[in-house]
Amino acid sequence: MLIGRERQLGQLDALLSEARLGKGRALVLRGSAGIGKTVLLDHAVQQASGFQVLHYTAVESEAELPFACLHALLGPLLVRLSEIPETQAHALRAALALKSMASTNRLAVYAGALSLFGVAAEGAPLLVVVDDAHWLDRPSAEALTFAARPARAASTWCSTSMAAATAISPPASAFWITCSIA
Ligand SMILES: Nc1ncnc2c1ncn2[C@@H]1O[C@H](COP(=O)(O)OP(=O)(O)OP(=O)(O)O)[C@@H](O)[C@H]1O
Ligand SMILES: [Mg+2]
Repeated sequence: MLIGRERQLGQLDALLSEARLGKGRALVLRGSAGIGKTVLLDHAVQQASGFQVLHYTAVESEAELPFACLHALLGPLLVRLSEIPETQAHALRAALALKSMASTNRLAVYAGALSLFGVAAEGAPLLVVVDDAHWLDRPSAEALTFAARPARAASTWCSTSMAAATAISPPASAFWITCSIA
């Protein structure tokens, strides 16, 4: 039972409902330590029936490991690599250590992540949850930011009592939540 979070829970439920209707959204929760960010994310996951859920909690030990988050998040989607442009699939395989490549084409990796999320969201709404995002490895953070970029202009959708919450629209049917300490 979460005390005093009716509004935030309602907003999360509303976003999930919108995602079910094909309206993708991104949400960043910020708040001080222990204020209840993770429990809100857990609520969203519990309510996400019918969604494909990709859930990652960043950890300090992997903060310096390039693409550690993407490796975990995209794992269930790698079987669909053949459905995205080959250049992107090739770059993703290299970034995720599935193939050797001399250099990393970051744009191709980020675009590949976006394409894979898009492919996944075609069949069922997709919920991507990243908790403790302050420990995200930088390339993964950049990839997620890139994937959410298409609707950054949508700006703020709500402001919680914890701190600011910002919504941006990623690919259709995808609903993203990232969480970090302010
Ligand atoms: N509104 C609330 N009502 C009841 N319990 C709450 C509420 N918010 C947080 N808690 C409880 O406080 C504890 C800390 O919550 P939580 O782990 O979600 O915080 P957090 O913001 O994710 O912390 P951190 O920044 O350390 O990751 C948990 O036991 C959680 O159940
Ligand atoms: Mg937490």
